[in-house]
Amino acid sequence: METSTWKQLEAIMEAYALDTNGGPEVLRRVTIADPVPGAGEVLVRIAYAGVNYAEAEHRRGVFGPAEGWEVPGLEASGQIAAIGSGVEGFRIGQPVAAYLPRFGGYAELVAVAAPFVLPLPQQFDLTAAGGFGCVAPTAYGVVSAAARVSAGDTVLIHAAAGGVGSLAVQIARALGASRLIGTVGDPAKVSYAQRLGYDLVLPRAGFAAEVLDATGGRGVDVVLDPVGGPVREESLTLLAPFGRLVAFGDAAAAPDVELPMLSLWKNNRTAGGYNIGDLARRAPELWRAHALTVLDLVAKGVVRIDVAEVVPWDRVRDVHKRLDAGSTTGKIVLHVADL
Ligand SMILES: NC(=O)c1ccc[n+]([C@@H]2O[C@H](COP(=O)([O-])OP(=O)(O)OC[C@H]3O[C@@H](n4cnc5c(N)ncnc54)[C@H](OP(=O)(O)O)[C@@H]3O)[C@@H](O)[C@H]2O)c1
Repeated sequence: METSTWKQLEAIMEAYALDTNGGPEVLRRVTIADPVPGAGEVLVRIAYAGVNYAEAEHRRGVFGPAEGWEVPGLEASGQIAAIGSGVEGFRIGQPVAAYLPRFGGYAELVAVAAPFVLPLPQQFDLTAAGGFGCVAPTAYGVVSAAARVSAGDTVLIHAAAGGVGSLAVQIARALGASRLIGTVGDPAKVSYAQRLGYDLVLPRAGFAAEVLDATGGRGVDVVLDPVGGPVREESLTLLAPFGRLVAFGDAAAAPDVELPMLSLWKNNRTAGGYNIGDLARRAPELWRAHALTVLDLVAKGVVRIDVAEVVPWDRVRDVHKRLDAGSTTGKIVLHVADL
């Protein structure tokens, strides 16, 4: 019996999953039961799965210990394979992009609550859509909702050449930011970041003095910070009056910072945060509004999902090694299947 026929009869699928936390080697190719869409869910047959830094954190156990086999993966593109009860507006075979709040992207199939699934316009290819569902609403939520970037702002973006960074710069520009400064951990990433539309890209070492110099001592209106630790502390010193710093990650895995409240309130500065998982749990309609806004910006050609690499999914451990080392550039998507 051919494997594919056997798989269909047995309703099993392949996935990369972990049942313990650790290095990239804990991601193992497994055969598990097909997910079944419950009420309010759809089943997506995956073509591409985006790779996110948060999945390396998931693998390492940053969000808690593995409980049985867990399939990481926060975003994917593909086609609707089945529709759960109570779901309207989808058809079998429809191309979609999805955010996966309960993970599951490193697999052939995933069941996901319908509000997190977006039917794709015709011109939106599945490759770019694979790197959309988590990264695009995050970039929009951070830039627009949390940092309130508006016309004339000078914006500083850390991890400027990353998945979120590569979109945040374009969205900030679309919202009228007049000066975009990025920092990167490795000077080798400068040229890639420059192509994304930054006015200035700096190696992160010594960035604070460079930013002050570049802004004539004024500092910046907005800082977008997924790094944390000393980078966050130094960034707070760069906020101009009315400035906003948004924390949305802790890539440096450094101890939390203490806020200089006196300096914040005396100068109308704000420090805030953004978290897509929390947003999706409490306000899924906001996730959807943000995602649809970016989809529209992409359709109008204002913003581009810049997929830097498409990698066969059996090389997912190599990608995770590079995520751990902070050496990836741009958005990476895994090719799971031709649909
Ligand atoms: N809050 C949310 O809802 C949310 C949602 C999505 C993503 N995020 C966060 O946003 C950030 C970007 O996510 P992404 O998936 O697009 O990843 P990414 O930016 O493509 O990759 C992570 C980047 O973090 C930087 N980094 C700094 N210190 C690091 C360290 N010690 N180890 C590894 N990398 C380090 C590296 O860039 P440099 O070389 O420039 O330092 C690295 O390329 C991550 O911190 C992620 O956790 C948050």
